[in-house]
Amino acid sequence: MTIKISGTGSALPEKILTNKDLEQMVETSDAWISERTGIKERHIAKGSFAYGRSHEAPQSRRGLPQAELEGREESVASLSAEACRRALADAGRTAEEVDLILLATCSPEMLLPCSACQVQSAIGAKNAVAFDINAACSGFLFALQTAHAYIVSGMYRNALIIGAEVLSKIVDWEDRGTCVLFGDGAGAVFVEASEDDHTGILSMTAGSDGSRGGVLYCRERSVDYADIFEDQGIHICMNGGEVYKFAVRQVPDCIEKALAKIDLAPGDIDQFVLHQANLRIIEAIAKRLHVGMEHFPYNVDRVGNTSSAAIPLLLDELNKSGRIQKGQLLVLSGFGAGLTYGACVVRW
Ligand code: COA
Repeated sequence: MTIKISGTGSALPEKILTNKDLEQMVETSDAWISERTGIKERHIAKGSFAYGRSHEAPQSRRGLPQAELEGREESVASLSAEACRRALADAGRTAEEVDLILLATCSPEMLLPCSACQVQSAIGAKNAVAFDINAACSGFLFALQTAHAYIVSGMYRNALIIGAEVLSKIVDWEDRGTCVLFGDGAGAVFVEASEDDHTGILSMTAGSDGSRGGVLYCRERSVDYADIFEDQGIHICMNGGEVYKFAVRQVPDCIEKALAKIDLAPGDIDQFVLHQANLRIIEAIAKRLHVGMEHFPYNVDRVGNTSSAAIPLLLDELNKSGRIQKGQLLVLSGFGAGLTYGACVVRW
């Protein structure tokens, strides 16, 4: 038995921040960003610094109104809820039918409750168990693998898997080395048991290397810690060169291992739906796998790096525009902070 994706959905904040806009904020240029990353624009959630105003959330020691918990406009929770409604509609399912909600994020609004519970309340999935997973840009892929284990074991029948980020909150808008890379958004898939072993997830690999966590990090940002660390590291900090080398070596390797498990080669794959960090990384991975770029769809030019949201956002775009046909072989592969990485081979 395996699991199959039977619906996809996504949601993006309304505001688009272009490279030209960034030229007004930091010392950079559209040419530099385009050449080094392939990114032209990204979506930015309401309330972030780059949006042009700050947002004061109401606070109470006695409890927040449920409406606030279900996510203010363009939060991780509200973007996720919208993506889930669309994924459920695509799958022809109702929220009450959902058994499990797994939400991958590294930029939640709340430490407690988890964003998945906020989504559960917002969409009315009252029969679901809901919790978050944080593995940064590999989060969606790891959540998909977790759902696979739960469903194949018989514990749950189906799941909503979400990848969602409002990274604009944790990006340092004065650091040109990172702020040009990231964007906000949410993507979701509805998965369920597939009786046919040849449709759905066919093979998986995953790995972590915690010893290299320092190359891409962001501290928890409570006031006390900010004092202790004199404001160091409460925004995303990155050694770009190290992350680049890690991605172009590790990703082809884990894809080849996932394919070898089921006697397939990169040339057998119709589409590689990779984490959308950077077009240069995607091109380097294609080259290492000896596969043409026409098999590597991308939207990083329009949405930037949306971390855990990247794979489900692209998957939804491909699905809704009819660019994935039934029976096609896909590879989904993510990598990011941790360091973490993984791949899934899927027959659509
Ligand atoms: N605009 C203009 N110049 C910039 C800039 C920007 N936005 N950001 C950095 N620079 C400058 C640097 O300061 C440096 O200047 P210097 O030579 O005077 O010191 C120069 O450009 C080259 O910087 P460097 O960091 O060596 O560039 P690079 O070719 O390695 O590209 C990245 C930088 C970030 C695009 C690249 O390392 C990368 O893609 N890394 C992976 C990042 C990633 O995907 N992270 C998320 C993974 S989930």
